[in-house]
Amino acid sequence: MTARAPGLQAFIDAFHAAILARAAPGSPTAAAAARIFAALEVPGEARPVEPRRLGCCAHLARALDHAQAADAVVARLARAFGALEPHLAWSVRGNAHDVGEPFLSGHANAYFIGPGQLESRPEVMLGVSLMAPHINYPYHDHPPEEIYVALSPGDWQQNADPWVTPGMGGLVYNPPGIRHAMRSGPAPLLAAWCLWVG
Ligand SMILES: [Fe+2]
Repeated sequence: MTARAPGLQAFIDAFHAAILARAAPGSPTAAAAARIFAALEVPGEARPVEPRRLGCCAHLARALDHAQAADAVVARLARAFGALEPHLAWSVRGNAHDVGEPFLSGHANAYFIGPGQLESRPEVMLGVSLMAPHINYPYHDHPPEEIYVALSPGDWQQNADPWVTPGMGGLVYNPPGIRHAMRSGPAPLLAAWCLWVG
């Protein structure tokens, strides 16, 4: 078994605690979290990653400051992410060049558990998304179910349903394959997410 990268265990524990704090017992969110965090009890393969920031990361300090002033659960997750972030490689979504501006330079993803990532493993993907103010993250879908923890203001949408605003520390559960999107308002959007690939 390989040891986890610096700070990664603290982030995983804080992420798990943030989901447990809000997920209703017996809910699909709780069931997905149980699968994901049981798997993460066994570390995957640690891989070297060249840290990299993007222009959008200029919004990170403001988002983290705001999150660290929130309740203890959100503040702990924000602190853990802030400590881990210097080790991460930020990137844009795969189709971002096709989507174009302002999305292209208005978002950044740090994807750090999953195939070929800082912790390489096949069955769980985990990371963080950051968006500049007033950016739409376009509709996307994927077979794995997904849980977001909001670390900032921001809105989420599934299919053509009304936009929802989970609030600081709020959860969004995306069942497998559902079309979903998110958008930031006047503040940067910061959210942690995990996917159960199985
Ligand atoms: Fe997603």
